[in-house]
Amino acid sequence: MAIKSLADLLAEGVEGRGVLVRSDLNVPLDDDNNITDPGRVIASVPTLKALAEAGAKVIVTAHLGRPKGEPDPKLSLAPVAAALAEKLGRHVQLAGDVVGTDALARAEGLTDGDVLLLENIRFDPRETSKDDSERLALAKALAALVEGPDGSPGVFVSDGFGVVHRKQASVYDVATLLPHYAGTLVAAEVKVLEQLTSSTDRPYAVVLGGSKVSDKLAVIENLATKADSLIIGGGMCFTFLAAQGFSVGSSLLQEEMLETCRHLLDKYADVIHLPVDIVVAEKFAADAEPATVAADRIPDGKMGLDIGPGSVERFTALLSNAKTVFWNGPMGVFEFPAFAAGTKGVAEAIIGATGKGAFSVVGGGDSAAAVRQLGLPEDGFSHISTGGGASLEYLEGKELPGIQVLES
Ligand code: 3PG
Repeated sequence: MAIKSLADLLAEGVEGRGVLVRSDLNVPLDDDNNITDPGRVIASVPTLKALAEAGAKVIVTAHLGRPKGEPDPKLSLAPVAAALAEKLGRHVQLAGDVVGTDALARAEGLTDGDVLLLENIRFDPRETSKDDSERLALAKALAALVEGPDGSPGVFVSDGFGVVHRKQASVYDVATLLPHYAGTLVAAEVKVLEQLTSSTDRPYAVVLGGSKVSDKLAVIENLATKADSLIIGGGMCFTFLAAQGFSVGSSLLQEEMLETCRHLLDKYADVIHLPVDIVVAEKFAADAEPATVAADRIPDGKMGLDIGPGSVERFTALLSNAKTVFWNGPMGVFEFPAFAAGTKGVAEAIIGATGKGAFSVVGGGDSAAAVRQLGLPEDGFSHISTGGGASLEYLEGKELPGIQVLES
C-alpha cells in the first residue's frame, strides 16, 4: 500500500483533531545544555507548522540522547522545546512527563492549533523494550493522548526520519494502532534515498568517515559493489592502514576488524581509496600541536586526528568528475579547528561537484553538523539528511521498521 502523505491528511481535514507527531529532535548539546546544531529542530518545523496552522491539536513525541529508561534531568527536552517554539513562531508547551498525569492533563486542555511536546520518550523504559507487549502498552498510552473527547481515534504522523530504523513504541508500534501518515521530512528523505539507490548517474563516489569500521561495515560491503570510488577517512581509516601493514602510532584502531579490512582491501582494491597523509598530534585535544606525516609512517606515540592536505587533493580529484556523491562521516576531529581542514576540504570538493551538476547527499549525523559548524553553505549540497544511522541502514538495503509500518 502506498504511504499516505501529510497532504492527504490535510485534505481529509485536521481541525480540532488530535495528531501525534514523532519527530527526531535529538540535537547535540554542549555542557551548558545549549543546542550546538539545531538542524533537526529546523527540519521538523514544516510538518508541525502545517498541522498547527490547519487547526490540529498537535502532540509531539521525541527522544534526546540515550537515557536509561528513567528521567534524567540532563536529557530533558526543555532546551529543545524552547528552540522549537522559536523556530515555529508559536508557543510550545512541554509536559513534565511522557504519558503521565501532566501529559494527560495538558493533552486534554489543548485547543485547536496548540503544540504540546512530551518529555523525552526514552525516559519511559517501554519505548526501547524488546518485549512487544511492553512497547504496545506505551503506544496505547500515546494513542490515548490524541483520542477525541467522543472516543474517536487521533492520527499519527511519522516525521522523525533519524529514528525510522528503530523498532520502538513511538516510531513503530503506535503506527499499528492509529491511522498513519508520513510527514514532509520523512517523505523527502525517502525520496532522496530512493533516487540514490535506483537511478544513480556515474561516476558514483562514496565518502565514508567516522570512528568505527564496524559501524560502517555493512554499508562498505554494499556500496563497494555499486560505487566507482569509495573514499575512506576519519578514525576508521587507521584500521585500514594497519591492515595494509603500516604502523598507526596511537591512532584509533579496531584490532578485531583488521582481517575484515584486509579482505575488503583485497576484494575492492580498485574502488577503496585511503588517505596518503595524516595530521597527527600527541594527544586528543584542541590545543594539541598538529604535524603532517605520510600515511604509511605514523610515528609511535602520535595519533591521527585528520587526513592531510595530500589526501584532500587526491580525494578532490576523485570527486571532481563525480555525478553522484554520498558522504557520511567526518574526515577528522572537525570540532578542533587545527584538525578540521580534511573534513572542510572534502566537503568543498563535494560542493564543487554539486556546482557542476552532481547529485550529492550528506548522510546525517556528524557530517551534517560539520557542514553547519564549518560555515559551509547548506545549499551547496543537493540534500542534507537528518538521519545518520537511518540513511546508512537504508543504503545497506535493510528494511526500516518505521517506514515499513507506514506502508500497511
Ligand atoms: C540519531 O541520532 O541518529 C537518531 O536520533 C537516532 O538516535 P539513536 O541512535 O540513539 O537511536
